[in-house]
Amino acid sequence: MGDSLVWINGHVTDIEAATVSLEDRGFVFGDGVYEVVRTYGGKPFAMDAHMARFERSAAGIELSLPMGASEIAAVALDLLARVGIPEAELYFQLTRGAARRYHPFPEGVPATLVVWARPLRQTDPALRDQGVTAITHPDERWARCDLKTICLLPNVLAKEHARRAGAFEAILVRDGLVTEGAGSNVAIVKDGTLITPVADRRILPGITRAVVIDLARELGIPVAERDVPVAELFEADEVFTLATTAEIMPIVGIDNTPIGLGAPGPVMTRLYKALRRLATGT
Ligand code: PDD
Repeated sequence: MGDSLVWINGHVTDIEAATVSLEDRGFVFGDGVYEVVRTYGGKPFAMDAHMARFERSAAGIELSLPMGASEIAAVALDLLARVGIPEAELYFQLTRGAARRYHPFPEGVPATLVVWARPLRQTDPALRDQGVTAITHPDERWARCDLKTICLLPNVLAKEHARRAGAFEAILVRDGLVTEGAGSNVAIVKDGTLITPVADRRILPGITRAVVIDLARELGIPVAERDVPVAELFEADEVFTLATTAEIMPIVGIDNTPIGLGAPGPVMTRLYKALRRLATGT
């Protein structure tokens, strides 16, 4: 058995053997939603919050989960037990099923649910120790960025443009305001306050974002959820990204301009330690 296992509508296979229909609406239209969960020491982190968001994203595109959120989580736990990898990435995807290409919803077609367990794509710890860079990039996405849909083309393009510029992340900007990263939420620190854009339809309500806001409050760090004009990025003491797999990443340069001290800052460092303590118990 390989170190990646996939469950597709009840059938478990190795990744090499896994197939979905050419007519799947995920493939043809990007008509679906997804989640990414990571494990620490074999245990999924914030699984309930991810499953609640999965259900909400599905409802947001007028699709229902074909089984209960807790049953889907149980499928993932079973796959994890079978692959036996302590640091794993769980991927969940739900699409509107396979039917002849025609835009309106097909009738009587079962949704395609995929649950996938594979080794975590580790972030090089040296990157977190030294900090990484980002570019700013126009946010060219649709008007429901709060739904975690598989239509990720604008995110893919922005991230590729960041990669070509030698940067780790693209920070998306709409109407002069920071929204989020191509694959992460963004927070800044100014005069000791953690500031992050409001979780409305312009951004994904990140699970890491929510956990880090709670941790900040517990640590007595003031939190402000409000619009962040792009100019504030460059005047910030600290900037960092928040996401499931890369956790908290300090951004020490944006568009070739140094940010803050040009090194990971004290608030990010405190929050990162608190997140690791919560996730790993150490
Ligand atoms: N991405 N915003 C966007 C656009 C994202 O794609 C992600 C995560 C986040 C952070 O959300 P969370 O903390 O719940 O992971 C914010 C995942 C990891 C991905 O697409 O691989």
